[in-house]
Amino acid sequence: TEPLRVALAGLGTVGAGVIRLIDTNGALIARRAGRPIEVIAVSARDRSKDRGIDMNRFAWVDDPTELARQAGADVVVELIGGSDGPALALARATLGAGKSFVTANKAMIAHHGLELARAAEGANLALKFEAAVAGGVPVIKGLREGAAANEISRVYGILNGTCNFILSKMEAEGRDFADILSEAQRLGFAEADPSFDIDGVDAAHKLSILASLAFGTRPAFDDVTITGIRHVIAADIAEAASLGYRVRLLGIADAGAGGLFQRVHPHLVPESHPLAHVTGSTNAVVAEGNFVGRLLFQGAGAGDGPTASAVVADLIDIARGEFGPPYAMPADALAAQPASDSGER
Ligand code: HSE
Repeated sequence: TEPLRVALAGLGTVGAGVIRLIDTNGALIARRAGRPIEVIAVSARDRSKDRGIDMNRFAWVDDPTELARQAGADVVVELIGGSDGPALALARATLGAGKSFVTANKAMIAHHGLELARAAEGANLALKFEAAVAGGVPVIKGLREGAAANEISRVYGILNGTCNFILSKMEAEGRDFADILSEAQRLGFAEADPSFDIDGVDAAHKLSILASLAFGTRPAFDDVTITGIRHVIAADIAEAASLGYRVRLLGIADAGAGGLFQRVHPHLVPESHPLAHVTGSTNAVVAEGNFVGRLLFQGAGAGDGPTASAVVADLIDIARGEFGPPYAMPADALAAQPASDSGER
């Protein structure tokens, strides 16, 4: 059987993780996918960096966009990041060249998801982004496939590991925000620009993707009301605790009579709620469906192993030929839905 041939853009932690995962679990992946998955070409800013893996077996290209036209590649995996720029150029070029596209890029899907979904569907290609939300936690599959038969009333959760790490450490140790942030950066789950984490932008990217899946609307990042955690002080957390609450940065999307309402802000979570017990960099998403009831998805929202696991799961779907429209419904139906009433609630 022909392997699924992959061109990979971006060889940071996650990119190297994808190669390591395929190297380690290749045989079982081939059995489950029905054919082997093989990386054939790569692109990265730093070619000489030691990634602890043999990189000479791949074709190297300097301009990632060239991967879209890489001879023999069936699918491009984009792990560059950024909502526009080279990542978006590569996405457009890949789908334009008739190849499927897998990405971990939440910012790009939050801003350009509808355009890319239309391009993919129009050409009967896969556009997959499981790794874009909550890292290794299969929440895209959970909403798009698992909850496909349900009317969803609300989806919400802890979508940023850096913020949850900071808030739960402030809570446990009574320490200040600033010195915990530098610890999170050392541990490697903060974004290159940590303001995206602590100002709630990263969580809002992910929330707008979840909302689009849950409610069948276009991803509408611009409609998310955002407040980050910069202003939360240890005394707020202690005060909340004395009343039986924990402080968590939540992303919440709910569909009510007035339309879809999306917001990210520090939230008081009662100790009786499962999200109050999610600590450290863990992510957790709750979805409420009219037949399935309350679903809770929880696990590592960042890191090479978990995120690579989601990327390769998408590749396995493509290898099997199991993919429909990227969202829970076709892009044209998404576009027809108002993303938000933008009204006062
Ligand atoms: N910076 C993100 C987080 C990484 O802290 O959750 C995964 O998107």
